Amino acid sequence: MQEREYDTIRALRWADDALWLLDQRLLPVRTDWVRCTSAASVTRAIRDMVVRGAPAIGIAAAYGVVLAVMAHYGRGAANWRQAVEGELRELAAARPTAVNLGWAVARMRKALDELWGDPREALLEEAQRIHREDLEANYRMGDLGAALLDGAAVLTHCNAGALATGGYGTALGVVRSGWARGTIRKVYAGETRPWLQGARLTAWELVEEGIPVHLLCDGAAATLMRRSAVQWVVVGADRVAANGDVANKIGTYALAVLARHHGVRFMVVAPTTTVDLATPAGRDIPIEMRAAEELRTCGGRPVAPDRAEAWNPVFDVTPAELIDVLVTERGVVEHPTPARLAELLAGL
Ligand code: MRU
Repeated sequence: MQEREYDTIRALRWADDALWLLDQRLLPVRTDWVRCTSAASVTRAIRDMVVRGAPAIGIAAAYGVVLAVMAHYGRGAANWRQAVEGELRELAAARPTAVNLGWAVARMRKALDELWGDPREALLEEAQRIHREDLEANYRMGDLGAALLDGAAVLTHCNAGALATGGYGTALGVVRSGWARGTIRKVYAGETRPWLQGARLTAWELVEEGIPVHLLCDGAAATLMRRSAVQWVVVGADRVAANGDVANKIGTYALAVLARHHGVRFMVVAPTTTVDLATPAGRDIPIEMRAAEELRTCGGRPVAPDRAEAWNPVFDVTPAELIDVLVTERGVVEHPTPARLAELLAGL
């Protein structure tokens, strides 16, 4: 594969019979790696946000399946498949919104069901294939998305970068490719409370790559658009429903409404592994609720009275009618509709 510019960051790697995860809770202050040697530790890492981002948690789960099989088949118990199945269910349930998680576990389960004898090597190869395919999809989407831009200033939200994927990123893949070919001239990143994926992760990732980034607090997006400072919003997705509605990090819907009001175009970048034709519409997507503590604190320090109640949905749904273009590795879909999405996925 051809070498790419701005492509130095990876958040997952397999080495010495273990999955290594860059601990995304600690960035940008520390770059520590967590070593996972069991499926249960991968489930915990997904739930606790050591690894996050829809494609990345799918890839982590695929390696988690390998670790489950290594443990249970390795012990030689007669009912090892049953024990593995229990761990697969836990992995798939670690977080509810990103469909890539269930998709990756289902693909690994199917591979396992078709294997006889010692399945360990073949399963590791399958997990590595999932990992590699995601990276290749990101390269393709990066180029397809960047080709739609023309010297644009873009605003992104959350982190849909190398850290959220097998590498290169979805929305940030478009940013990387657009920066390299000059179709993007300026990048803004919203900080993305409460986890600050935009400030801690996207800003870190772009600074590390040498791509200038301008950080703004989430509340500044309207003013940015009012001043005609951006032409496109470019975001990733956790699940695209059959009707084209998109679940992504909380705040994405607000940006889509603002973009439409101000004549800014709205691009969603997501591999077909994020498209879920079994979920008819956005209202059917399970939205993860997380602890009130995430809102009452910031970096472990209190920022609100601890008796304040909090409402903390961590994803929202952007209706298809607010999306100008969906970029996938199979091609670009303008104004996604059920028919256009079904056509895109035909044959998969
Ligand atoms: O809660 P997170 O950090 O896992 O949420 C991540 C997002 O919402 C991303 O935008 C999405 O997963 C796309 S990542 C390519």
